[in-house]
Amino acid sequence: MTLIIDTRTEPERALTGACDTLGMGLPVAIPTETVYGLAADATNPDAITRIYEMKGRPRFNPLICHVCDLDMARRHVVFDPISLALAEAFWPGPLTLILPMKPESGVHPLASAGLDTLGIRMPDGFSRRVIERYGKPLAAPSANTSGRISPTTAAHVADDLGGKVALILDDGPAGIGLESTIIKVEGDEIRLLRPGGLDVADIERVTGKTVQRPQTAGAAIEAPGMLASHYAPGAAVRLNASDVTAGEAVIRFGGKVLPGEEKAVLVLDLSRSGDLREAAANLFAYMKQADASGATTIAFGPIPSNGLGEAIIDRIERAAAPREGTQG
Ligand code: TXA
Ligand code: MG
Repeated sequence: MTLIIDTRTEPERALTGACDTLGMGLPVAIPTETVYGLAADATNPDAITRIYEMKGRPRFNPLICHVCDLDMARRHVVFDPISLALAEAFWPGPLTLILPMKPESGVHPLASAGLDTLGIRMPDGFSRRVIERYGKPLAAPSANTSGRISPTTAAHVADDLGGKVALILDDGPAGIGLESTIIKVEGDEIRLLRPGGLDVADIERVTGKTVQRPQTAGAAIEAPGMLASHYAPGAAVRLNASDVTAGEAVIRFGGKVLPGEEKAVLVLDLSRSGDLREAAANLFAYMKQADASGATTIAFGPIPSNGLGEAIIDRIERAAAPREGTQG
């Protein structure tokens, strides 16, 4: 049985229900500003094991720990000055920092997959209130079966994990719609491990430094969840389509019509006005809609690579990659 509580109409019941469920060692699906997360007490090994089981996720893939404030973060990780400046500038928000874990942090090694670093972030929105009330960090991957598209609504979570997860908190559609940007600071260098909901240009503006993108395929192993195939819909995915074949579903951008669209089973526009934020917020829901249309292939029109376009294209490329080694 899965219970769904609407946080907008019953915030107190949602908080109490979430904390009681978490306290029993059971995962709860919580809304964050990026995507819905499948959260469990990060200090409880049984609870974390249940996350891996529910998602069918490989255990070498570490989870992000979510905190409600900087004090809670400091109890678990050591900040270097650049990471601290980033946390102060962008938390709560779609930024995950990879930082050395403190030996006295009670976060269980199952959450960190045995690494001596911890991925940590302060989410915005109702999930932060849950952490505040619960008083301990919550380990939370996206609330989807491993390898599938991340959920941006409570209904997406229910479709995927309904019957498995005891409680889903519904706070409406996620505002950002893409997972957090993952950053690791090493000495003087700021390295991008995953493009996401925070624009890399904003990080460069605040730090005055150039962010290093991964140069080789091997670098992806550093965020172990970043294996190629991810966000996989059932349909095949084609990028940068310049025309449309009969029976395809089209997802385009900026009102740019693709030749042959009249043959498509469905045409969606991520943002008619060409707004990359709007496009990010729509991406996963549109991929699910296109997948459900019965189309054998989803054809994406061209999308600009600046700003959030980088993370949008990253997710589409992963959706188009061969289906093996699925993660996340
Ligand atoms: O927006 C988000 O980040 C969402 C919401 C729920 O917060 N969470 C999310 O979690 O996307 P997940 O598990 O789908 O992706 C976490 C990524 C994985 O690629 C994982 O390998 C990486 O973070 N990661 C976690 N801890 C790490 C660490 N210590 N070092 C390197 N990568 C790490
Ligand atoms: Mg994921």
